[in-house]
Amino acid sequence: MTTFEDIKREIPPLIRGLSFDGSLGLIVHTLESGPSALVLPSPSKGDSMKETARKWQALFDEYVKKERVYPATVGVGDLRYGLGTNYDEAVRGEGVSKLPTLPPSLTRSDVVRDKVAVVTGGAQGFGEGMVRSLVEHGAFVYVADLNREGAEKLASELNYDAMITVAKAVEVNVTDEASVQAMMDMVIAEVGGVDLFISNAGVLKAGSVKTMSLKDFAFVTDVDYTGFFICTKFASRTMAIQNIPSESYYTDIVTISSKSGLEGSNKNGAYAGAKFGTIGLTQSFALELVEDNIKVNAVCPGNFLDGPLWSDPKRGLFVQYLETNKVPGAKTIEDVRRAYEAKVPMNRGCTTADVMKAIFYIVEQTYETGQAVPVTGGQVMLN
Ligand SMILES: NC(=O)c1ccc[n+]([C@@H]2O[C@H](COP(=O)([O-])OP(=O)(O)OC[C@H]3O[C@@H](n4cnc5c(N)ncnc54)[C@H](O)[C@@H]3O)[C@@H](O)[C@H]2O)c1
Repeated sequence: MTTFEDIKREIPPLIRGLSFDGSLGLIVHTLESGPSALVLPSPSKGDSMKETARKWQALFDEYVKKERVYPATVGVGDLRYGLGTNYDEAVRGEGVSKLPTLPPSLTRSDVVRDKVAVVTGGAQGFGEGMVRSLVEHGAFVYVADLNREGAEKLASELNYDAMITVAKAVEVNVTDEASVQAMMDMVIAEVGGVDLFISNAGVLKAGSVKTMSLKDFAFVTDVDYTGFFICTKFASRTMAIQNIPSESYYTDIVTISSKSGLEGSNKNGAYAGAKFGTIGLTQSFALELVEDNIKVNAVCPGNFLDGPLWSDPKRGLFVQYLETNKVPGAKTIEDVRRAYEAKVPMNRGCTTADVMKAIFYIVEQTYETGQAVPVTGGQVMLN
């Protein structure tokens, strides 16, 4: 039986999908009340989502053709939605100032312009860099993290600089279904859907298989492997609905695996196992979700030597490896760093800019899914 909660989860993505002309989507915000510029009929009993979408699309297109602008507000039964080309417009329900247009000369990174992205683990490290880059290239981004304070700090900084709302913080635990569902409910109510979901949150606990506790093994597996399943479960439901009206609009789920998802990692089995596992999930989800126009791909970065995981002066891997003599002969942190740089044919660590190039490629490419894209400076080469 469809509940009122289900309806509130389904209508905004469907309305959002009506505006996809193959490249751009509007933001659809749930409003408390107010008049409707366009009234769409409530879905008829027995109509499939596809049939409802077809009827709504005809009414929506008719409105845009006549008024030469998108409707400021849309009503369905007692529910009201504000539409905008940006978040602040949609919240005010005062209307779209102009029809969105793509800039005349397109570069690969323009593929995220006016899209909604969610980045888990977005408060620091690779995730923070992804959030900054996506905002810089015109996306609206949810900084989704267990660390609420860090996520809020980053979102406020970006909004302050942009002078409009371009990012929002949301506290989430990717290992908890209820938490991920609550996050997606918030995203649906605030912007109507998501075009790019980056499952980036991850943890690392190294340890020998002979001594590692089951608790530590399970902790890594929960975040790095199960978290990707839970996020895909809820993100794909929304994407599947918003992709219905256009039939040619693609959305992306990207998981951040690792070079340790492509080859084993000594005394780091929990992490490598989980990262290999995400590639199995990527391939399987890609096969299933292709019928919903959802692409699912993994990115496998090399070591982010400048990130906090490696460089944190107290708990970073450089300090840990120096203290445990993991690199024979290393006397300083710099020695440890050099040893890791020397493992890379391109002689340096991976950066967020390197990873973003892979993500832009994945989003732009509409003839590929289920792939694991290495970004390792040649350290791991695929067979
Ligand atoms: N750092 C590297 O060298 C490297 C290399 C390859 C792949 N990766 C992968 O890239 C991703 C990001 O790594 P990083 O080094 O930037 O990590 P990081 O530790 O710097 O940041 C991870 C973020 O995830 C958040 N997080 C942790 N558990 C969470 C949970 N249960 N729910 C929600 N958020 C949670 C943390 O609060 C933190 O903000 C991870 O998946 C990691 O495995 C990292």
